[in-house]
Amino acid sequence: MTASTTANPLRIALVTGGSRGLGRSAALALAADGVDVILTYVSNDASAQAVVAQIEAKGRRAVALRLDVGDSTTFAAFADSVKAALAATWQRERFDFLVNNAGVGLHANFEDTTEAQFDMLFNVHLKGPYFLTQKLLPLINDGGRIVNVSSGLTRFSIAGASAYAAMKGGVETLTRYLAKELGARGIAANTIAPGAIETDFSGGMVRDNPQVNAMVAGFTALGRAGQPDDIGGVIALLLGEGSRWVNAQRIEASGGMLV
Ligand SMILES: NC(=O)c1ccc[n+]([C@@H]2O[C@H](COP(=O)([O-])OP(=O)(O)OC[C@H]3O[C@@H](n4cnc5c(N)ncnc54)[C@H](OP(=O)(O)O)[C@@H]3O)[C@@H](O)[C@H]2O)c1
Repeated sequence: MTASTTANPLRIALVTGGSRGLGRSAALALAADGVDVILTYVSNDASAQAVVAQIEAKGRRAVALRLDVGDSTTFAAFADSVKAALAATWQRERFDFLVNNAGVGLHANFEDTTEAQFDMLFNVHLKGPYFLTQKLLPLINDGGRIVNVSSGLTRFSIAGASAYAAMKGGVETLTRYLAKELGARGIAANTIAPGAIETDFSGGMVRDNPQVNAMVAGFTALGRAGQPDDIGGVIALLLGEGSRWVNAQRIEASGGMLV
């Protein structure tokens, strides 16, 4: 029996991009649900350590590791550092939940998008989650779960997001294939597709640009832009015991954008 199927098991989640925004909210919501967390950051060591301290204040254990999801050549070494952290902090060889969340935004019309921008988005949003998940798979418990973070922009179209949304569309397709192929190990995989959320993402556009914020609120049924904590709880819910039969799904959390 794996750790994830015993009564009151210790569960460990690995959340990429857990130092800020949606990943931070997810890490804290998971900790509130009794889950320990390995979170990653790419440059913001101080923010990552602050999240670790907040998780520890909730009585859970947490470790922050550096990871660039846009550079797959580093993934083998990253898997080694995850292995080392699991052994040192938890005396375990595996974790339970992988949340592929880290990412950056880019606003550029189709006609202006450069190959360099496209390649960057491809590396961070599609190649990264694909090969990071592949590399970490031996470290995920049978019966574990994967949540990939996509975007509402795969269902509706807003000018300036063609390359970004195309990568997220790829992530959603990848998620269904992960569910198909990993089901034999009891691993479920789902996509969460947030609407526009007030984070640092895309230069803080949704939070800091009043026109963009009002536009988002105007076409959202619940009448406002999203907050990071509108998302973290949904990710924790998808990783909760009660959601164990949800598999290969795309769950949109957008307050009803463009319905
Ligand atoms: N905000 C939205 O409106 C929105 C809507 C739909 C989907 N999303 C998706 O939600 C996810 C999180 O976005 P967010 O709004 O929380 O963004 P955010 O507030 O800007 O936070 C981004 C997080 O990702 C990390 N990160 C950035 N580039 C990375 C890289 N190359 N390698 C590893 N980590 C990296 C950052 O680490 P550092 O702190 O070290 O920089 C940070 O923890 C992304 O996948 C995004 O596409 C966001």
